[in-house]
Amino acid sequence: MGDIDVALEDGCPTEPAVRTIAMPADTNPAGDIFGGWLMAQMDLAAGNAATRRARGRCATVAVDGMVFHRPVFVGDEVSLYASIESVGRTSMKIHVEAWRRSRNDEDRFKVTEALFTFVAIDEHGRPRAIPTE
Ligand SMILES: CC(C)(COP(=O)(O)OP(=O)(O)OC[C@H]1O[C@@H](n2cnc3c(N)ncnc32)[C@H](O)[C@@H]1OP(=O)(O)O)[C@@H](O)C(=O)NCCC(=O)NCCS
Repeated sequence: MGDIDVALEDGCPTEPAVRTIAMPADTNPAGDIFGGWLMAQMDLAAGNAATRRARGRCATVAVDGMVFHRPVFVGDEVSLYASIESVGRTSMKIHVEAWRRSRNDEDRFKVTEALFTFVAIDEHGRPRAIPTE
C-alpha cells in the first residue's frame, strides 16, 4: 500500500485524462482484465494530452517501457494520468500511469505505466510542427 497517491505527487497531473470502470466485457475467458484493454485506455489518455498540446490530430508512433505492476479487477475504477515529458519538433513524449481503486474502497494502486510517443500529423497524415505554447 506504500504507493497510494504517488500519482498525485511529483508533478503528476491531479486530474485524470481518462477515468473508466473495468467491465466484464473487458476480460479474457478466465475472467481477468485484458492487458490490451488497459493499454488502449492508456493510449486514449496519452492521445488526449497530445492532441490538446498539439492542437490537432496526432498519432501514436511508439510505446516504451510498458510495465504491468498489478492486476485490474472487474468493477475497479481505473484512472489514467498523462503528463507531457518533452516536446520535439513534431513529436511528444507522454508518461502515462494507470491507477486502480476498488469500487467500495479508497485505497488506490498504480497498476501500469509507459512512455508514449505521439506525432502531430496534418490532414494527409504527415508530421507537422507542434505549435509553441
Ligand atoms: C507517425 C508517422 C506519421 C511519422 O512519420 P515518419 O515519416 O516516421 O516521421 P519522421 O521520421 O519525420 O519523424 C517524426 C517525429 O517522430 C519521431 N519518431 C519517429 N519514429 C519514432 C519512434 N519509433 N520512436 C520515437 N520517436 C519517433 C521522430 O524523432 C520525429 O520527432 P521530432 O520531429 O520531434 O524530432 C508515421 O510513422 C505513421 O503514420 N505511423 C503510423 C501511426 C499510427 O497509425 N498509429 C496508430 C497505430 S494503430
